[in-house]
Amino acid sequence: MTRQEKLLERYDAVMMNAFGSPKRVFSHGEGVYLVDADGNRYLDLLAGIAVNSLGHGHPAVTAAITSQLSRLGHVSNFFATEAQVRLAERLAAAAGGDARVFFTNSGTEAVEAAFKAARLTGRSKVIAMEGSFHGRTMGALALTHTPKYRQPFEPLPGGVEFIPFGDLDALSRAVDDSTAAVLLEVIQGENGIVEVPDGYLEAARRITREAGALLWIDEVQTGLGRCGELLLHRADGVVADLITVAKGLGNGFPVGACIATGDAAHLIQPGNHGSTFGGNPVAAAAANAVLDELEAGVLDNVSDVGDWFVAAVEALQHPLIDHVRGRGLLRGIVLTADIGPAVVDAALGAGFVINAPRPNVLRIAPPLVITRDELRPFVDALPGLLEAAHG
Ligand SMILES: Cc1ncc(COP(=O)(O)O)c(C=O)c1O
Repeated sequence: MTRQEKLLERYDAVMMNAFGSPKRVFSHGEGVYLVDADGNRYLDLLAGIAVNSLGHGHPAVTAAITSQLSRLGHVSNFFATEAQVRLAERLAAAAGGDARVFFTNSGTEAVEAAFKAARLTGRSKVIAMEGSFHGRTMGALALTHTPKYRQPFEPLPGGVEFIPFGDLDALSRAVDDSTAAVLLEVIQGENGIVEVPDGYLEAARRITREAGALLWIDEVQTGLGRCGELLLHRADGVVADLITVAKGLGNGFPVGACIATGDAAHLIQPGNHGSTFGGNPVAAAAANAVLDELEAGVLDNVSDVGDWFVAAVEALQHPLIDHVRGRGLLRGIVLTADIGPAVVDAALGAGFVINAPRPNVLRIAPPLVITRDELRPFVDALPGLLEAAHG
């Protein structure tokens, strides 16, 4: 038995079966590479599902975490820390407008905070999108469209109405004076990297403003540089009322946030919401280090390598590839056959970590620091992987 086989046997005996059996046991990471417990090396093109933006073992994040932890690891939210205030200022500035922040430990908790803020408007209806994913806690699940995730847990919090993603007529019809908020992702990551149509965000901003409803953008997957911007919706000049972020914020250290602008920034008041760990100084220090690196040039790399990758994959002109979609380094390779899971397995066997959020879509979400040269071996291997999977 290999070391991995032994560890997986122990995993299967003790872990709840929430995720099925893992395909590898990883021991450590180095930059854009992962190494398994038997010493095999993989190019990490998933980055913990759009999380490890700076790759594995980044010295600036390690230094920020260890230095903060050695000085002060945690205080309750009866008190404040400089790391937390600094991070809040930076996220508020990224949101535009006069913004305030509530910190969480995950994306789903950021969504819970925003959902509660929306309810504090005194209006009950939240309009969410078909194809959406917002997390697995009961509130976030109520806003998530996928029936198989929802149904075993019904009844979920009510007042949520789903409309087709990207359909402005449907949005105009659905929004009225009972609408608390309209919630959408700029790119639906879990639905297969599906982009909102051009002009939709500006129109959604106008429609919600006219109805006195909040515009809530979930940037948990698209934000913090993943798509070449700190917050992707800001590229369209839109200021949202509520923004949820997590994933890439801490480079793997758990941290998320609900950011609110304008009047929405004052909805949550003492007693309405709370968290023991949210805003923890170590998490905030990790996130500040990530923001430092993004600002120091990583954002430019995202657009450069992302655009190169699309051109390189499309130049393969492979019959099993229909097109590539997404922005920056959140890309979906849309296939002409439902062979995604088989390609993922073939890729893992060949030393590449990817995933398939839909049977016909491969998700490529590598560390944002990846270079063209590091990514090229995957492009070169792709035709062979597709053919192996297609049989
Ligand atoms: C858009 C979006 N919102 C929320 C979440 C939930 O985040 P977390 O898994 O950190 O709870 C996800 C996770 O994939 C997501 O993609």
